Amino acid sequence: MKVMVTGGAGFIGSHFAKRLATAGDSVVVLDKLTYAGNPRNLEGYDIPLVVGDIADPEAVAQAAAGCDAIVNFAAESHVDRSILAAGDFITTDVYGTHVLLEHARAHGQRYVQVSTDEVYGDLPPGESAVEGDPLMPSSPYSASKAGGDLQVLAYVRTHGVNASISRGANTYGPFQYPEKLISLFTTNALDGQPLPVYGDGRQRREWIHAEDHCAGIELVLRQGEPGGIYNVGGEERENLDVIEQILALTGASRDLLKHVADRAGHDRRYSIDSTRLRGLGWAPKWKFADGIAQTVAWYAERRDWWEPIKSGEYLAYYREQYAHRLEP
Ligand code: NAD
Ligand code: DAU
Repeated sequence: MKVMVTGGAGFIGSHFAKRLATAGDSVVVLDKLTYAGNPRNLEGYDIPLVVGDIADPEAVAQAAAGCDAIVNFAAESHVDRSILAAGDFITTDVYGTHVLLEHARAHGQRYVQVSTDEVYGDLPPGESAVEGDPLMPSSPYSASKAGGDLQVLAYVRTHGVNASISRGANTYGPFQYPEKLISLFTTNALDGQPLPVYGDGRQRREWIHAEDHCAGIELVLRQGEPGGIYNVGGEERENLDVIEQILALTGASRDLLKHVADRAGHDRRYSIDSTRLRGLGWAPKWKFADGIAQTVAWYAERRDWWEPIKSGEYLAYYREQYAHRLEP
């Protein structure tokens, strides 16, 4: 199968592109190379990279020519950035999805939308979201992802596009841009920098290794039903438990931990039921304790990957997001 992987120079998309290439599929990556895109994520693999925007029909036509399927990872993906400025989230996550769907419709291509458990919103203790549950997004990011999902479902029903949706949990692993909880706190801990815990740190997330997330998306690509939605869940942990593990694995001092002003609109808990995907034969291979140990070891080894990122635009973003929280 020939597959266009959009956002394939980003964190999860690069794991997926390399996975398909290893399986013998023909892969082309379309990626705008925003701050989060990094061609080094594809190093060692012979995967063509077309630099372009999913919201640009010409770039999509160029990259998708001859492809049997499109798997859309391209997105503005960071909640905190969507709180500072949401425009690019609408352009990419909603309008970009529309452009890709138009292409899939015109060329009869299989389509998979890589979505998120955040579209279900905050889940009370003891409850897990199933795929038919209403969408209750809390942040501009999750609202833009929900908008993308709804476009997909409309194109299935109205235009008969052969599309499915995966909704994954919080993903961690090598090659994650150092702005999310695990990648940021690990690299900060390795550098002896503060770890800015939002609010009380008692929020809960499900954590899944990128390889297990990609295995789920591959199954959705190959076996998912048109209009089918598939949750891809992980192990639930409180943020403070995750942070404890990072401290233990890096050997960093507990003094680095700083409780700071909370994220606006912060969801307390995500939880999803992955029974439907398990029914296709999916099961995660990584236990969280092993996966986070492997991930922290990777960041400790690969300063050559993340140190150059923590400069320029990154520092400007970091100041805007954290200076007022961390400075007395
Ligand atoms: P990421 O931010 O690491 O990578 C996003 C990639 O998309 C980057 O390479 C970027 O350059 C590219 N991109 C952004 N806008 C583009 C555009 N207009 N045209 C083409 N390329 C563009 O993101 P990630 O964490 O790897 O997430 C990938 C997908 O998985 C996203 O759709 C995200 O919503 C979803 N997801 C992420 C997680 C998570 O925990 N990271 C969990 C569930 C779902
Ligand atoms: O649930 C899936 C989603 O997971 C994906 O759709 C998103 O693309 C991805 O960014 C992620 O969103 P979260 O907002 O849950 O992830 P993040 O790593 O930003 O935050 C995880 C938790 O850690 C959350 O409760 C906020 C907290 N946090 C995060 C950062 C960056 C902190 O306490 N301090 C921080 O500096």
